[in-house]
Order: sequence, then C-alpha cells, then structure tokens
Amino acid sequence: MDILTSKENGILTIEFNRLEKKNAITAAMYQTMVDALKDAETDSAVRAILFLGKPQIFSAGNDLDDFMKNRPTGTDSPVFQFLWQISHASKPMVAAVAGAAVGIGTTLLMHCDLVYAADNARFSMPFTQLGLCPEAASSLILPQIAGYQRAAEKLLLGEAFTAEEAASMGLVNKVLPAEELLAFAQAQAAKLVALPAASIRITKRLMKGGQTAEVEARMAQEIEHFGAMLKAPEAAEAFTAFFERRKPDFSKFC
Ligand code: COA
Repeated sequence: MDILTSKENGILTIEFNRLEKKNAITAAMYQTMVDALKDAETDSAVRAILFLGKPQIFSAGNDLDDFMKNRPTGTDSPVFQFLWQISHASKPMVAAVAGAAVGIGTTLLMHCDLVYAADNARFSMPFTQLGLCPEAASSLILPQIAGYQRAAEKLLLGEAFTAEEAASMGLVNKVLPAEELLAFAQAQAAKLVALPAASIRITKRLMKGGQTAEVEARMAQEIEHFGAMLKAPEAAEAFTAFFERRKPDFSKFC
C-alpha cells in the first residue's frame, strides 16, 4: 500500500508509504487520499486529519513517470480532486514533515492548518525547473503568507529551502528535532480532537471561507496552464533529464 490510512482516537492519519520512490505520488495514490478525505468529511468520529511521510522523506511530489503516462486532464483527475478535497476540508489538517517535501509535498501544506517540520526538512517547489507552473493555488497563497519577494524567490527559482526558512516565511508553525516530530504532531492533532468539533469547524471556516472562491479560481487557472505545459517540450526535456540523471537543457526553447 503506497498510502496508509488509519482512523484512531478521532484522527485520520494519511501516510505516504512509497519510500523506494521517495514517496512520489501517483494517480492511484491521489485517489486513495481523495477517498479517505471524502470519507472523513462525513464520518463524525474523525475530528482531525494528520499527514505523515517517512523520517527520511515527506514526498518527492508528483510521480513524474506516472504524470507523463497518465496526464491529468481536467477536474475529474485524481490530483485535481485531491487539491479540491484539501482546499475544502472542513476538519482541521495537521502535517508532520521530515526530509524533502517537493512540489505538491510543499504546496499541500498551504492547505493544512498546523504544519510541523523536523530540523532535517527541506522544502522546494521546482515547477519552473520542470517547465511547469505552480499548483494548489500556491501562486496565490504563498505570496500572502510569505510576502511577494520571498514567494517569488521560491516559485521562480524553485530552489530548496530549510525548515528554519520555511518557519520564518510562515509556512511552518514549528521546527522540532527529528526524533520529536511525530509525537508532537500527534499530540497537536489530539488537542484538536479534544476541543468542541463545531468550534473548530466554524473557526476554520471563518478564517478560510472568505477566500474559497478565489482559491478555486486560482487553482482552475493554474491547472489550465499546468495541463498545457505538461504537453510542451520543456516539460518532456525536464522529465527525461531527471530520469537520465542529467541537467535539462532549455536553451533550444524560446
Ligand atoms: N517521480 C518519479 N520517480 C521519482 C521521483 C518522482 N517525483 N522522485 C524520485 N523518484 C525515484 C527515482 O527515479 C529513483 O528511482 P530508481 O531507484 O528506480 O532509479 C528513486 O525514486 C530514488 O530517487 P533518487 O533521486 O535517487 O533519490 P535522492 O535521495 O537522490 O533524491 C529527491 C531525492 C526527492 C531530492 C529527488 O528524487 C528528486 O528531486 N525527485 C524529483 C522531485 C520532483 O521534481 N518532483 C516533482 C515536483 S512537481
């Protein structure tokens, strides 16, 4: 199982479990998460959601091979459905990030309510390096939380940054020693479970609700560009270069 899900003590835990491919996410994995998130919406026993990776890596983002073979087309695609679920989740979402969080491994965090990082966490959104553009409404949300210049640096250059920098940007609540991360995140989720569910739900809705339409519109814009760019030669060159373990050469594209 590349995604592990469990429900215990009011917490739905969703864990990336594909270490041999650095927790890269396939369409099938997105679908598993969509199903779990939909179920959580209607299951009153679930009062918080916790995203976990492995101590070595959170996620290498979209599976580039799967992405080229099964290009997401439109709003029915599992990746888009996943983005819709996390951006509309009524229940609080907590993430515990250790190791690399690449692409959607970072952008999904912008939809979580509490984000905790191990001191070995490294974040990156290498969309331009792949001939792509941002997704998950990160082009809207990151400038809001980090300020335009810092967001531009991360989204235009796509370079990795540390947990400390992510915390200073407002993307991460707290940085912890790696060995304390899991217990701390689980304890924070347990605190949410113990509080009145309606208070938590309404507080979250009050904070996020005003922006839902804008997030939806931005995601739709991003996905349109993203879909087109996935078919372009720049992405083919970048993806091929990754699997051939060489630097991509974009000099022939204008
Ligand atoms: N899609 C598909 N396969 C991936 C992958 C991805 N996003 N990320 C890693 N893998 C695979 C590698 O191809 C390799 O497979 P192999 O053992 O069959 O050759 C395996 O996972 C291990 O990856 P490797 O690159 O050797 O690990 P690393 O520890 O040196 O580096 C990362 C880890 C995450 C920094 C690096 O794998 C990486 O940059 N991945 C791509 C990230 C990316 O561009 N994501 C898409 C964002 S939209």
